[in-house]
Amino acid sequence: MSVAATATATATPSFRIRRSTRGVPRMRMPVRSSTISVAPMLTKLQSDCATPLPVLRHVADSMSADMRAGLAVDGGSDLKMILSYVDSLPTGNEKGLFYALDLGGTNFRVLRVQLGGKEERVIATEFEQVTIPEKLMFGTSEELFDFIASVLANFAQQEGGKFHLPPGRKREIGFTFSFPVKQTSIDSGILMKWTKGFAVSGTAGNDVVACLNEAMDRKGLDMRVSALVNDTVGTLAGARYWDEDVVVAVILGTGTNACYVERMDAIPKMQGKFSPSGRTIVNLEWGAFSKGLPLTVFDRDMDAASINPGEQIFEKAISGMYLGEIARRALLNMAEEGALFGESMPEKLSMPFILVTPHLSAMQQDNTDDLQTVGSILYDVIGAESNLNSRKIVVEVCDTIVKRAGRLAGAGIVGILQKLEEDSTSAFFSKRTVVAMDGGLYERYPQCRQYIKEAVAELLGPETSQNIVIEHSKDGSGIGAALLAATNSQYDQDY
Ligand code: BGC
Repeated sequence: MSVAATATATATPSFRIRRSTRGVPRMRMPVRSSTISVAPMLTKLQSDCATPLPVLRHVADSMSADMRAGLAVDGGSDLKMILSYVDSLPTGNEKGLFYALDLGGTNFRVLRVQLGGKEERVIATEFEQVTIPEKLMFGTSEELFDFIASVLANFAQQEGGKFHLPPGRKREIGFTFSFPVKQTSIDSGILMKWTKGFAVSGTAGNDVVACLNEAMDRKGLDMRVSALVNDTVGTLAGARYWDEDVVVAVILGTGTNACYVERMDAIPKMQGKFSPSGRTIVNLEWGAFSKGLPLTVFDRDMDAASINPGEQIFEKAISGMYLGEIARRALLNMAEEGALFGESMPEKLSMPFILVTPHLSAMQQDNTDDLQTVGSILYDVIGAESNLNSRKIVVEVCDTIVKRAGRLAGAGIVGILQKLEEDSTSAFFSKRTVVAMDGGLYERYPQCRQYIKEAVAELLGPETSQNIVIEHSKDGSGIGAALLAATNSQYDQDY
């Protein structure tokens, strides 16, 4: 398999930070002995964020209950339980050239893949990643889709000799669009609302495939979307291509969500619709879940100041877009009320979203005796001078926020598994079951991964949790979308 990545100059993975090479800040000694008054504030934060077993159990049970309510009737619960129209998963027999587009956060990816069937599997892939210019996240639908179509047109032009399209066929695309979409078929769906800080006008209420088709027409690009999928669905399909035991996929990145394979007869709102496999993938849109979450005043204030107050409460407590901001708000409070950084306030600590989740992760990986990395991040990012005590408190704050996130995500996963077990006639928990995970927060925050695992093990017990494999499916959603374009191709696959 050959992988040629042609990342453009603007490419910046959304979950990385560049550490400053400037000198570590001076330790200003003594910073007023702040830790005495900060300690109770830390204890309060830890207790407000605590996720002991009963809290986890309540979240898992409520997740299962909300899933059932959302499957019964549209609008039945916080969980939309969106039908993906993906009724057949990749088998390995897929062949041919397929494209994938991936729009779901600050980065946009285009990918092409040559599939060679059971024998050759993935023969070649190439991709390109660009950062969505910030103004497009707040612009018009036409501007956003024109940008996407122009990146795609440019990329398609560079198709080299490793890729083959039989004569007379259009290039087919799997379009991963990672926002809540009410699917109307496998290749159409209406955007319900934007999430993750996007506020593009003119898309909500419209078919996103039509928006893309119109933009492709404007560019004179003759390609066809054969599958519209959520990133969780793409991840599930991509992981299932290699492992038949994958039944759940979770994204924990800028945003968060989960999907799973459901039996058609367990979906009352399908009203007798038929799928040859008897199964379909359901997208929970679990970011909207809200029951029993241990939230703090910082979560509430952040939500109130957001562009979608009252919405995506689970997402705001556990996903990468928000963890840095929750920590910043907690630290600001400690600096103001407990003089965490001494008498003077760090100049940039009051700027919303100045601290991002990758900073939290980098600070938690600091193994130096005097927490040098923590010191330089605090200095570089918020202009804070710190001593060892305040650095230790900052690390504790990061840990508190990410621990809650990881453990709640773990409880959410158990909620889905529990629902499958309850409905199963064949001792579901005694078989190997794989949960495919992807997203920057999962991939690049080791403590977060650990907390997810711990919560799953606490909830399910040591024996059952041994059968639950939580696996990283790196960038699976791109290949997954291309595979779903293949399974839903308008052309015959046997050539
Ligand atoms: C979106 C989901 C998506 C998730 C992860 C959420 O904000 O609503 O559709 O799957 O982010 O990207």
